This record gives sequence, C-alpha cells and structure tokens, in this order.
Amino acid sequence: MTAKELRNMYVSFFRERGHREIPSASLLPENDPTVLFTTAGMHPLVPYLLGEKHPLGRRLTDVQKCIRTSDIDEVGDDVHLTFFEMMGNWSLGDYFKEESVSMSYEFLTKHLHIPPERLAVTVFAGDETAPADQETAQAWKRLGLKEEQIFRYGREENWWGPVGRTGPCGPDTEIFYDFGKPRCGENCGPACTCGKYVEIWNNVFLLFNKEEDGSLTELAQKNVDTGMGLERVLTIFNGKTNVYETELFLPLMERLEELGAGKELPLRDRRIIAEHVRAVTFILGDPRRIVPSNTEQGYILRRLIRRVIRLLQKAGMDSGCLCGLSAMVIDQYRDIYPELGENRGFILEELQKEHALFSRTLEEGLRKANRYLDSLKADSLEAERPGTDSLKAEQLGADSLEANSPESRKSAMLSGELAFKLYDTYGFPIEFTAELARERGFSVDMNGFRRKFEEHQEKSRKASAGKFAGGLAEHSEQTARLHTATHLLGGALRKVLGEEVSQRGSNINAERLRFDFSFGRKVTKEELAQVEAIVNEAIDRKIDVILEEMPPQEAWRSGAIGIFSEKYGDMVKVYTIPGYSREICGGPHAANTGELGGFRILKEEASSAGVRRIKAVLESRES
Ligand code: SER
Repeated sequence: MTAKELRNMYVSFFRERGHREIPSASLLPENDPTVLFTTAGMHPLVPYLLGEKHPLGRRLTDVQKCIRTSDIDEVGDDVHLTFFEMMGNWSLGDYFKEESVSMSYEFLTKHLHIPPERLAVTVFAGDETAPADQETAQAWKRLGLKEEQIFRYGREENWWGPVGRTGPCGPDTEIFYDFGKPRCGENCGPACTCGKYVEIWNNVFLLFNKEEDGSLTELAQKNVDTGMGLERVLTIFNGKTNVYETELFLPLMERLEELGAGKELPLRDRRIIAEHVRAVTFILGDPRRIVPSNTEQGYILRRLIRRVIRLLQKAGMDSGCLCGLSAMVIDQYRDIYPELGENRGFILEELQKEHALFSRTLEEGLRKANRYLDSLKADSLEAERPGTDSLKAEQLGADSLEANSPESRKSAMLSGELAFKLYDTYGFPIEFTAELARERGFSVDMNGFRRKFEEHQEKSRKASAGKFAGGLAEHSEQTARLHTATHLLGGALRKVLGEEVSQRGSNINAERLRFDFSFGRKVTKEELAQVEAIVNEAIDRKIDVILEEMPPQEAWRSGAIGIFSEKYGDMVKVYTIPGYSREICGGPHAANTGELGGFRILKEEASSAGVRRIKAVLESRES
C-alpha cells in the first residue's frame, strides 16, 4: 500500500461514518498558543474541543502534519520521527468511548487486516484525580480482545495532554502493534522499549481542561481525539521493520548511499539526516514562513538544519547537498502538500543561506570544541594518574583555562562558559554541543550554559531598553514619523522585491531609520528608486493611519504581518496604511502619512548573510 492509498483509506473510512474532512492546518499553531509547533491534530481544534461550534459539525477527520521535537533524541531508531503525518478523527461532544474504540478496531482488523491477536491496548488504571477507565477496558473485551492483550497503566502512560501548560486533556487508550517477538522479560508490555510493541494509534477522551493553576476543570462536552501515525502504519502494513524502508524515506536513504554516506556514517546518522531533511523542508515550506533564527520555532529549525550539516560534513560529504535532498522531499510530497511546491524557491534559498552562514564557522568551531574536549580528556586521564603534571593551560590557549579548572576536572563536564562561547561565536546550538560532548564521553554543564545565556540576554535587553527610552523621550514625534515610514518601506520592499521579504530588525534614532530584512542579494539602484517612489507616493496621498485592536489570530487571518517569534498578548494593535501596509505593532505612529515629509534612502548594504540593511531619512518639504 502506498502512503497516498493509506491517507485515502483512513479519511474515506471516517467520512463513511459521518465525519467531515478538514485540511491539514499549518505546522505553526494558530488556535493553540501554548505550543510552538502543531504536535497533534487536536491543536487546531482547541476552541472546538472547549465548546465553540465547528462549522463542519461534530465529527471531523483529517491528516495533519506534525512536528514533535520531544522525540528528537530517539530519531534514528526504527519508528520515532520529529516530523510525521497524523491521521485523526474527532468527536466534538458526539460519540464517545464505545463507538470510538469499535471504529478503530474495525479499521485495524477489517481494512488494514491486522490480525486481532497482533493488537495490544492500554487503558488508564486510575489515580487520585481520575477514576480507572473501566468502560474502555470493557469495550475492548466486547470487541474480542483477551485480558492478556489489555494493559493498565497510570498517568505516565495513559493520560494525554496538555502539551503546553494549559489545555484539554484526559485519559486515553493506546493501541499497539505486537511484532510477535518473545517478551523480553516478566514486565514486558506495550510500555517496554524492547521493540516487541509499537504504538500506532491513540484514542484520547478529552474530558478536562488544565487551568493555569494546575487544576482540572471538567469540559462541557465529552470529546474524542484520536491520532494514528501514518509512517508507522505504512511500515507495518507493508511488512517492513522500520519507517526508513517505506517509500517515504527509501529514495532519500538510497541517495545518501549514492553520495557515499554509507562508507563513513553509521546507519543511525544516515537516518537522522533523512528524517531531519524532511522535517526542515516541511517547516520551511509551511505557508507561515518560518526562517532559521535564535528563538522559538526558528531555533528548532536552525538546530535541525545544523545537525544535518554537521553529519554531512562528518561523512566527508559536501554539505551543500542538503538542498538536493530537500528538493527530493519537495517533489515527493508536493501533490499532497502543494505549499511545498509553491514555496520551493524559498525553502531552497533559506537552506542555502543557513548553510552559507553555518559552514563558515563550523570547521573552526569544531576545532575549538575538540580542543576543549581534548583538554577534558587529558584532565580525566591525569586525574587517574595522580602526581603527574596535567596538560599546560598555555598549550591550549587562554580560553580553555576553564576546561582545565578543578571543577570541570572533577566532573568531566564541558563548562557552561565554553558551551556558551561555542553558541555565541560559532553558532553551535547547545544540543549540538551536548551531542559532540556525548560522542566523546562527556557531558555539558547545562545549568552553567543557561546562566551565561540569561546573563547575555539581560545585557542586551538593558542595552536596547536604554536606547529606546532615550530616543522616545527626546524625539517622540519624529520617532513616530520614522516608524510609520518604516512600515511604508517594508510594504514597498515587498511590492518591489516579493512577498518573501521579511523584517529582521529595525532601529530608529532622531535622524534616521534603519531597517534589516531578509533578501538574498544586493538591491539594485532601479529597485531602490522604485521603493523610494512608492513610499513618497503614499506620503503624497496623505493617508490616515488606522489603528485597530484585535486578538492575534484574527490579525494573522486578516493578513497582518508581524514578527512571529514575538509573544503577543490576548489583544494586539494592528496599524494599517491602506494599500501599503498592515502590521501588528505596538506603535506609536503618525496619524497621517502626510506628516512624514520626503523619504530618501541613504544606503543599502549587507547586514549579515541573507540579510540586507537600508538606512533612510525623512526630510522636511513644502507641501
Ligand atoms: N492528541 C493525541 C496524541 O497526540 C491523539 O491524537 O497522541
């Protein structure tokens, strides 16, 4: 069976049982601000699980793209993935436990033809906050499952959600495929990691909402939320043992072989490359246009891309082949997820930029990291042979002094300071440094790293708050005018250079504005002249700047742009200059574009790889 057939089979099964199909939502949650990525099909449905009426009714089904970074350390085994497709069905206060498990059973045994004896299920055993789920256990028995196929576990295994701090949650029943291997021991069961069982479906009974204070409130409606892993089911149905043998990964794995990865890289690393390439292609291909950065979703994206680059380099391969591998993913999935085809240029360009940015510092950073780790190694060897002189600090350079300090010698731990230096100077994500250290048998002082990181953030916060406060107090009206000019400039750049231009930074002082934006090449004189003309046209037209307040979701939906990594509150301000710009922004702005004066670009230059910088001024003019 192909992936396409499986998707169709699932959705048709539930459509025939009264469910309406909904499209896969963005990987960046719009309806659930408690999570960075859509990790399950239920995130886009949170308002409806809480009681809002869904326009398509009470029975829904879909195939949702998901990102789960919590499983990143398992990637490379047979079944764990950071990106996967989740097939799901929902009852929004409609059917409940009995009907849900019986539909699942029918789909598994009659449509996927899994022999009933190959199934194992788990149910919630109960604890002080919620009772044991007897009804579901009984329902499984009525369907014919034997007592030894039904396992009862506590909260750890059989309570789902919320993923963030708050949100819908409840007891679940998980369905496993039993590969038929002998049990690894007396306690072997679905919760065991020996490989006998693999989870394929999870039916959650979302009955509660977890509140800010940690308490559970009962929901007004009893919901069912199920999710089935497409890649895993495809693996099992086709008699394979791991997801990399399915059509979804086979071409990538073969290509890696052709490129010579097989000689140098262990299988696990090759699988990680294939898996992460697919994940980053989907993140970059998402209509919400996330780019690599040092915060939130952008950071996760960066971390995945940089891990791939390092593994490719480790294999002695040209890490630029990352783009070729990503193009394979695009071509493979574009029929089902047209956004990948539509964003092809953007995806490959961003990968190329990140590659250019990182491969420059990677080699030097690796040399540094290895030197630090060598010094730790030398220290631990010396510690085993007391009385001999330890490796001289001068041999290692001044900045490795700390690696040689008595504290790190004791624990064979890379210090937080060095880990921060690798992060700050060489762009090594901390998880990546931890991985390097682990490969050499060391750990990293994560708390020390966090302290350094926070100190650094505090310093930059103070620096920018200081600048901003001073600027505003002295020159508030001119600042507001320059701020409005910045929005006009952003809008004009998108008109002339394309919608992919996005703001990377902005700084205003009494004299000028400075605007950083993503763009891969120098902007030509002609283009700059066009941009200038558009801004001046908006000024000449004396347009009122409109301020509205609304919830962030509504702002996004209405096409307002904003810096997505920023945390927005319940309500945001949206400033619109009709025909030119619509942005989420704190203000302040000029009331009318006519107040701005003449707009002139002073300079266009590179700011960093893939980022351009424009400086411009407003000049007084007679109107
Ligand atoms: N939300 C549940 C899960 O992620 C079922 O989809 O497992």
